[in-house]
Amino acid sequence: MKRIAIFASGTGSNAEKILAYFKDSADIKIALIVSNKPDAGVLQIANRHKVPTLVIEREAFFKGDGYVPQLEAHQIDWIILAGFLWKIPTTLLKGWEKRIINIHPALLPKYGGKGMYGNAVHTAVIQAGETSSGITIHFVDEHYDHGAIIFQATCSVFPTDTPEALATRIHALEHKHFPRVIEQVITT
Ligand code: GRF
Repeated sequence: MKRIAIFASGTGSNAEKILAYFKDSADIKIALIVSNKPDAGVLQIANRHKVPTLVIEREAFFKGDGYVPQLEAHQIDWIILAGFLWKIPTTLLKGWEKRIINIHPALLPKYGGKGMYGNAVHTAVIQAGETSSGITIHFVDEHYDHGAIIFQATCSVFPTDTPEALATRIHALEHKHFPRVIEQVITT
């Protein structure tokens, strides 16, 4: 049984899909939900699913032990970032090498990097006149949105799209693919 910690800063719709997908899995257990925001929606989702939560603070995360002892106490094998907005410190990159996965709501290497999250990504894609966008699932390294790409899926961008309309299409792609891709990576 591999034990996963999901890190999320926001609503947690991806976290919820992942929780539902692995609910009865014999191979993968969502063992912990980690958030840097005490009022993040994802924490309520965790409570509903009776999954332990951990709220982290900037100072300890970046300058302290990176919460390694807590992650070890929960015997975490893999870390999944689902809308987590802080950079991952070296302590975690070393401890979970090639075992941290992120999802990004665009086709990397374009439209990634610091500040490229949420509607900022979709606004940039629309303003550039792109006719397609999509999702990227990738390993995490020391740079934002940079590590080796595991999986991409695409969708159309229409000239009439608002960032919100594109975000809805992208979210649907994320919900469809992310749990399955996580399963594939972890179990093969
Ligand atoms: C997703 O679009 C993901 O790609 C990005 O943050 C968003 C999180 O959405 N990294 P949600 O909180 O899972 O609804």
